[in-house]
Amino acid sequence: MQSHEIRQRFLDFFAKRGHAILPSASLVPENDPSVLFNTAGMQPLVPYLMGQKHPLGNRLASCQKCVRTGDLDDIGDNRHFSFFEMLGNWSLGDYFKEEAIKWSYEFLTDKEHGLGLDPARLAVTIFKGDENAPYDQESKDIWLSLGIPEHRIYALPAGDNWWSPGDNGPCGPCSEMFYDMTGEFVGKEISHNDFLQLIEQEKFIEIWNDVFMEYEKREGKVIGKLAQKNVDTGAGLERLAAVMQGKHTAYNTDLFKDIFEYIKDNSKDAFDVIPARIIADHVRTATLMISDGVIPGNKDQGYVLRRLIRRALVQANKIQSGYSILMGLQSTFVSRYEKIYNNLKQNPVHQYEIFIKEIEKFQNTLHNGLKEFEKGIDPFILATTYGFPIELTEELAKERGINIDRVDFDKKMSEHQKLSQSASAGMFKGGLANTNEKTVQLHTAHHLLLSALQQVLGPEVKQRGSNITEERLRIDFVFDRKMTDEEKSEVEKIVNEKIQAKLPVVRKEMKREDAEQIGAQMEFGAKYPDTVSVYMIGGEDAHAFSKEFCGGPHVQNTSELGTFKIQKEEASSAGIRRIKAVLQ
Ligand code: SER
Repeated sequence: MQSHEIRQRFLDFFAKRGHAILPSASLVPENDPSVLFNTAGMQPLVPYLMGQKHPLGNRLASCQKCVRTGDLDDIGDNRHFSFFEMLGNWSLGDYFKEEAIKWSYEFLTDKEHGLGLDPARLAVTIFKGDENAPYDQESKDIWLSLGIPEHRIYALPAGDNWWSPGDNGPCGPCSEMFYDMTGEFVGKEISHNDFLQLIEQEKFIEIWNDVFMEYEKREGKVIGKLAQKNVDTGAGLERLAAVMQGKHTAYNTDLFKDIFEYIKDNSKDAFDVIPARIIADHVRTATLMISDGVIPGNKDQGYVLRRLIRRALVQANKIQSGYSILMGLQSTFVSRYEKIYNNLKQNPVHQYEIFIKEIEKFQNTLHNGLKEFEKGIDPFILATTYGFPIELTEELAKERGINIDRVDFDKKMSEHQKLSQSASAGMFKGGLANTNEKTVQLHTAHHLLLSALQQVLGPEVKQRGSNITEERLRIDFVFDRKMTDEEKSEVEKIVNEKIQAKLPVVRKEMKREDAEQIGAQMEFGAKYPDTVSVYMIGGEDAHAFSKEFCGGPHVQNTSELGTFKIQKEEASSAGIRRIKAVLQ
């Protein structure tokens, strides 16, 4: 049975039993700052589980998009996915254990309207009891009444059979269903310990969880019962697809089959299954995040998205597939999921551009960053100059058995951020008005302009002042006559060529003498410390097209700048000219 049929059968089954079918909520929770993404089908329903009236009634079902990024390191194995779809049905103070368990069983085993799984291959768990709630005899009796033999019902402690979305909110004991993937245990008794081992070995796979949410947690502690008894069930579509298609992992089901063929075709000899799985997983998640309005960035959801895309790119590099396959995969996922999740249909070009832009941004620095990495790992330089998220550097280091000093990194980063902020407050060279995107772009253009002026008018051109607003940049420089129109267009041409050449903007910390040695430009009359920060554009050290003592901030790549245009060239004072220029 294909995944779309599983999804549809589930929703039809519960619609028939009086449930309103909810469209999936966005991956980004509304009004819930406690999590970055919805991690379970119940998350958007928390207020209703706590007692608020739901406009569509007290029986609900959905197929909810979920993201869990807590264990990104595990992705590549059989079971972990950063994105997954969760099928779920809910009772908001309506039916309780009896119906919930019966319907779960019926949907799993019914041949005509459900999945038609063999009941003899099922095993279930119930809550063993602790100081918060008693042994769940009621659930056990219901399972027995359905024909599950006693020796296939395992009582487990809260660590396994108590579910809550976090430290605060609705929670309760649960009963989970497992499926024998091998079929070799039909009719056999399995001891408690053996059963736990078989789960570890992935011979029994968890396929569904029925949570009986009648308790409330606050600050990690169960504080008592809720006013109503709720049911929250969840079944991962990926798992069910694997079970239904007799595969050990969802990567081998219809959800990913063509994706892998595509990756294989594009990586030829270098194909390797783990990187391919990571690429497939991450591009899928990124595609769906973008469709829900997430944009790559430096914090919160945007940072997770950025990490996923950059991580995928590093893996693509490993299997020599070229970064364009990521674009191909993005389009494939869009056409697959747009039938189910409407957002993918809105502004598809815009979504594609967001994805590509992030890839191109990193692609331009990835190669040099990896070279830098091989020379010796400086996580700070990798982050600030090459755009390597620290977690990525940590992973790459781990592969080589090297530890990263995270405390040191965090310290340097916060100092760096302070430096950028002071730069933006106008305390450093450039007098940046603020760090919004436009001024940062103009700041980089300012560096290109100075070098272009020196190239056209001669090396004696020196900067004597500068000022940047959101609209334009201004540079004052030593030169004793008006520039000709030809000189101005030559300067414009050079700057625009450097923009079109997509040059990485590289920051380096060096000794002041070394920086002077390579000819880095400095502010006239300024005092510099022994270790300075130098920004280079197009080439390294003495060969760089532009090199300046500077605290930043800058764009990562000149391709981010647009088109450069000189608006005005005039006298500023005796022997000093002034140019105002814009990026269009
Ligand atoms: N909330 C439970 C889970 O995520 C059941 O849906 O497993």
